[in-house]
Amino acid sequence: MSLIKEIDFGTPIRVAEQQVTLTIDGESVTVPAGTSVMAAAMSLGTRIPKLCATDSLEPFGSCRLCLVEIEGRRGTPASCTTPAEEGMVVRTQTDRVRGLRKGVMELYISDHPLDCLTCSANGDCELQDMAGAVGLREVRYGYDGANHVVPGAALAEANPLFLGKDASNPYFTYDPSKCIVCNRCVRACEEVQGTFALTISGRGFDSRVSAGGTDFLGSECVSCGACVQACPTATLMEKSVIELGQPEHSKVTTCAYCGVGCSFKAEMQGDRVVRMVPYKDGKANEGHSCVKGRFAWGYATHEDRITKPMIRERITDPWREVSWEEAIDYAAAEFRRIQAAYGKDSVGAITSSRCTNEEVFLVQKLVRAAFRNNNVDTCARVCHSPTGYGLKTTLGTSAGTQDFKSVAKADVILVIGANPTDGHPVFASRMKKRLRQGARLIVADPRRIDLVKTPHVAADHHLQLKPGTNVALINAIAHVVVTEGLVAEDYVRERCDLADFEVWARFIADERNSPEATEEFTGVPAAEVRGAARLFAGGGNGAIYYGLGVTEHSQGSTTVMAMANLAMATGNIGRDGVGVNPLRGQNNVQGSCDMGSFPHEFSGYRHVSDDATRQVFELMWGVPLDVEPGLRIPNMLDEAVGGTFKGLYVQGEDIAQSDPNTKHVTAGLAAMECVVIQDLFLNETAKYAHVFLPGSSFLEKDGTFTNAERRINRVRQVMAPLAGKSEWQVTIDLARALGYEMGYTHPSQIMDEIARLTPTFAGVSYDKLERLGSVQWPCNDKAPTGTPLMHVDRFVRGKGRFMITEFVPTEERAGPRFPLLLTTGRILSQYNVGAQTRRTMNNVWHEEDVLEIHPFDAENRGIRTGDLVALASRSGDISLRAEVSERVQPGVVYTTFHHAVTGANVITTDFSDWATNCPEYKVTAVEVRRTNHYSPWQERNREEDVSLRRIAGRLADAAE
Ligand code: SF4
Ligand code: SF4
Ligand code: SF4
Ligand code: FES
Repeated sequence: MSLIKEIDFGTPIRVAEQQVTLTIDGESVTVPAGTSVMAAAMSLGTRIPKLCATDSLEPFGSCRLCLVEIEGRRGTPASCTTPAEEGMVVRTQTDRVRGLRKGVMELYISDHPLDCLTCSANGDCELQDMAGAVGLREVRYGYDGANHVVPGAALAEANPLFLGKDASNPYFTYDPSKCIVCNRCVRACEEVQGTFALTISGRGFDSRVSAGGTDFLGSECVSCGACVQACPTATLMEKSVIELGQPEHSKVTTCAYCGVGCSFKAEMQGDRVVRMVPYKDGKANEGHSCVKGRFAWGYATHEDRITKPMIRERITDPWREVSWEEAIDYAAAEFRRIQAAYGKDSVGAITSSRCTNEEVFLVQKLVRAAFRNNNVDTCARVCHSPTGYGLKTTLGTSAGTQDFKSVAKADVILVIGANPTDGHPVFASRMKKRLRQGARLIVADPRRIDLVKTPHVAADHHLQLKPGTNVALINAIAHVVVTEGLVAEDYVRERCDLADFEVWARFIADERNSPEATEEFTGVPAAEVRGAARLFAGGGNGAIYYGLGVTEHSQGSTTVMAMANLAMATGNIGRDGVGVNPLRGQNNVQGSCDMGSFPHEFSGYRHVSDDATRQVFELMWGVPLDVEPGLRIPNMLDEAVGGTFKGLYVQGEDIAQSDPNTKHVTAGLAAMECVVIQDLFLNETAKYAHVFLPGSSFLEKDGTFTNAERRINRVRQVMAPLAGKSEWQVTIDLARALGYEMGYTHPSQIMDEIARLTPTFAGVSYDKLERLGSVQWPCNDKAPTGTPLMHVDRFVRGKGRFMITEFVPTEERAGPRFPLLLTTGRILSQYNVGAQTRRTMNNVWHEEDVLEIHPFDAENRGIRTGDLVALASRSGDISLRAEVSERVQPGVVYTTFHHAVTGANVITTDFSDWATNCPEYKVTAVEVRRTNHYSPWQERNREEDVSLRRIAGRLADAAE
């Protein structure tokens, strides 16, 4: 194994119909028009020396190292900024340009610390490489002149930060003495990340990189790592490389956090990860990353990891470490005992969207083939199940319609119920790039998310609706489209079911759906809704992106269908730049749904009651399968409380923290006789467990994840499982102990079975993934290399189906006792219930969940920022710190749910989506008041949360 090094063409790859042919050093080359001379040369394998150029950034032309001679042109143009032209004759290695390059390098090196042997970039430094490439042998200017290694007094006085390294960021350092002011970091922050945190301050010799006049930690920087990636020297360097040295081999794998599914090179020394570097050939991220995937992987080897199986007879007993065999035999015996005593339907399992497709597929197979019931559900139930229902009903497929790069062709973007800069940061960077190019933006969100106004991006309309009124708002937009003659009539006539359309058009045109009538519910001024509707329908390609702010409502499925109606009515499905696109929360939400882990569906969304489908599975699995749908998670818990559901296998989920109405969840868990948890850490749910089976982190896994664009990406094992077994092996062992043989020896064989059983995966194999990098399903005979865009010529279901989407307000209403509405969300640096990110240095940005409250509501209650407040709903109450903020509107409060000590779900209710039971996390009626204490259980949790204290200690050590 060796380090994977992608080719750097120096300037971005251009795509153009017109081609130009030129000659470089006597060789002819044909490239798309707009390609630079530098990139054209690289396509011949000719590396022109360069420092300020890299192909993730537009050419800048500052270092003057890439000079070439071009016949018929005066001077020596920079090859990075010169476009290739038809008939051009270029020479890259004349005496003249060699001399000039050497001179440039001499100047750079005369002002550079000559500590290469002890430099952290030694072996991976472009300055060092270029000194070698130009044949630098001496520096005529000496090293005694003014330089940045020992800055003069005036310089130091002008900017005290200049003197020392900036080590404030937990993951990388900035050492100005090594900076060559190539501007790559500044441009990366602008062009790739879109944060604009860096500038070059000063002029000429005094130029330096500045994080807005402060240190990195105190700046606008969001720690995406793009500048570190772009830096050609050791100026911006990962602390892990400074500590451990350069990696020596790498493997490409997939981030285990959000549904963007970024590809990374895990760069290693032996079996130790040195750094995670975003992979340029990864199609979801194209070389970009966010702070979580790039830096927050330390949890994988955190000391809290449990690596030995454990059992206990009662949840009040202490845990006892046992062998794998004993743990698995115990669990199997308990499940069989329970089934014998309470019936075959008294046990079930929950799969995880954190796990691979192969792991998920095996758990649902275990339930159906070994438990012999359909009691399997997935954590996707609590996030995106309405997406599956809504898009399948209207369009015919339970998945988003586009690939991520489609956003580059969007003209109007509607973001509803999603906060991409925090939740899906790498996709947000793509979106912001398109917005900076001039695409228009409509944001529908109760809260002022960053996208509403961020550097060089401002929403045309912020529809600041009241929580729970998505359906009314989308209906109102569609009402304007229909009543103002903005329907894409040809498209609807050709592509959609006309009878359904006509019924829908009459419904939506009714006055009760008008912006004026719905304003009462939504709180959004009618004129604003009309403006947004006209923009969306008439602005060119209209693309809808949405998140859990749409799905986690009692009418989540209705909103998804309302958005599909709107997209069809405006002709915005079936080509680049348009579509209805769910931004999936967890890394494998799409995959866990695809793999048949819903209680009513086999893989590929086929109902268990369908005889033909069931027979195919029965034949392959060799057992009769249950025709009745099984229990959803809430039903399992209800039946546990009722005394009929007694045994649960939970792989990679923490339902005691992540599911709504914690009291009810824990009551259900406590009523069970055997709860088996498979996880990395002793999580909240493990408090109710009888068997603990150690899980493996993504770095220890082999398999695949499927991201929000239906892209199946390989997850490659970079280190052996710390507990000695992968999850898929444990599931096989458990099935065997239950008397059902599975017999795979590698996850690729599980994928082969998935492909045989699932029409949309029929063409997927590990060999193909090796060859193509990734594929988007459907991948089968009709689409052997996958399907980036869905519904291109016709909808998967045939004709697009308009659905009636009546607005039925949630029963959860603000009233005299609970006058405010709570809504929840995520923050960039933390992830879901925080099991991973809380065990990393990311805590430096978000040590605790806080409650955002509008100044008006805060003043009425005498609350100031930093006050401890009690947040109460009819389900329960918690205490947390308040932050007075105008990001929320009066009457609405907001918090995150990343910390177990907060227990935000103690107060959420058990209302759920009418079609799918997806919980209504996003609307809870609450009251807030000042308090001076935490709840007793919160006090206990705070004491138990030793990981926080350890991290705080390490941060303090690092600061010293
Ligand atoms: S880490 Fe990202 S956000 Fe921070 S300065 Fe670098 S490029 Fe900008
Ligand atoms: S910090 Fe690195 S990328 Fe930025 S200007 Fe200096 S050398 Fe170039
Ligand atoms: S955007 Fe999502 S997938 Fe990409 S690095 Fe960040 S957390 Fe990982
Ligand atoms: S690489 Fe062309 S000017 Fe720097």
